[in-house]
Amino acid sequence: AQALRLAVVAGDGIGTEVVEQGLLVLEAALHGTGTTVSTTDFDLGARRWHATGETLTDTDLDAIRGHDAILLGAIGDPSVPSGVLERGLLLKLRFALDHYVNLRPGRLYPGVTSPLANPGEVDFVVVREGTEGPYVGNGGAIRVGTPAEVANEVSVNTAFGVERVVRDAFARAAARPRKKLTLVHKHNVLVHAGHLWRRTVEAVNAEFPDVTVDYLHVDAATIFLVTNPSRFDVIVTDNLFGDILTDLAAAITGGIGLAASANINPDRTAPSMFEPVHGSAPDIAGQGKADPTATVLSVALLLDHLGQTDAARRVEAAVAADLVERGSADRVRSTAEVGKDLAARVAG
Ligand code: IPM
Ligand code: MN
Repeated sequence: AQALRLAVVAGDGIGTEVVEQGLLVLEAALHGTGTTVSTTDFDLGARRWHATGETLTDTDLDAIRGHDAILLGAIGDPSVPSGVLERGLLLKLRFALDHYVNLRPGRLYPGVTSPLANPGEVDFVVVREGTEGPYVGNGGAIRVGTPAEVANEVSVNTAFGVERVVRDAFARAAARPRKKLTLVHKHNVLVHAGHLWRRTVEAVNAEFPDVTVDYLHVDAATIFLVTNPSRFDVIVTDNLFGDILTDLAAAITGGIGLAASANINPDRTAPSMFEPVHGSAPDIAGQGKADPTATVLSVALLLDHLGQTDAARRVEAAVAADLVERGSADRVRSTAEVGKDLAARVAG
């Protein structure tokens, strides 16, 4: 039997609750496949920071590297200054482990209510660049707190970094029935980075001649996500635009309680990381109210990444069936009840 070594970073707030259910479903999905799961819990997040002042040490990182994949719950807590855990833990993991493909499906499942009156068929995937852009922390401020303050955040876009994520997005588009790739940027204003992205998409298109390419400025993309989301198949975009678009994508497909994500290192030089798009939701933490579905769908992405495609499809099918029945249910289930129901469906 093959053993999957999984690093578990439950993190803060509802992270622990949703990860527990994700693991339950993962076990159920792998049952009978010959693959077993062994987990290592990593104590990272607000508790650790308060106790030790540490966010993510080199020792933590080395230990995490020894795993096949990472399942992450949520990071962030109001008791920790904004940015400390986000930069020092979550983004550090994405950067250090070279998660340059941040994959975020936008799929409206049957039975799920969208805030859009006529959403149509929504099934796209956002390939958000994960290691560059304004997220790298290239910037600084002078004369802070004075009327003469200047605060810069410089977006870093390298030919290497743009090309590798664009190639990955093309490959994903080529493998989908519609074979369509939309580049989202703002090259009428951000001319330097925008044109690098545009030229790169044009050049890589030659390797994928059957993929149709189009382009939208990010502001227009937000309009189409609301007025005609079915026009999208694969979207490729930079780190910050991707962050914003994927919250909008979540909103139109049933909310962040359902939105899954994968931080992928396609070269497999380090473990990839799977996490719900939502945060730690301190307002409802510890109450068993969080929807574990986003984590469970992230587990499906994990299974796909590990080549366990049958298991991944069974997890998605379980979620799809559960979502159809949810609308007619007479009461709202707890986090653990949803997890248990999904695991039972996966087990068949
Ligand atoms: C996300 C989150 C993170 C991001 C924050 C918490 C750093 O919003 O995963 O989308 O901006 O990437
Ligand atoms: Mn976000």
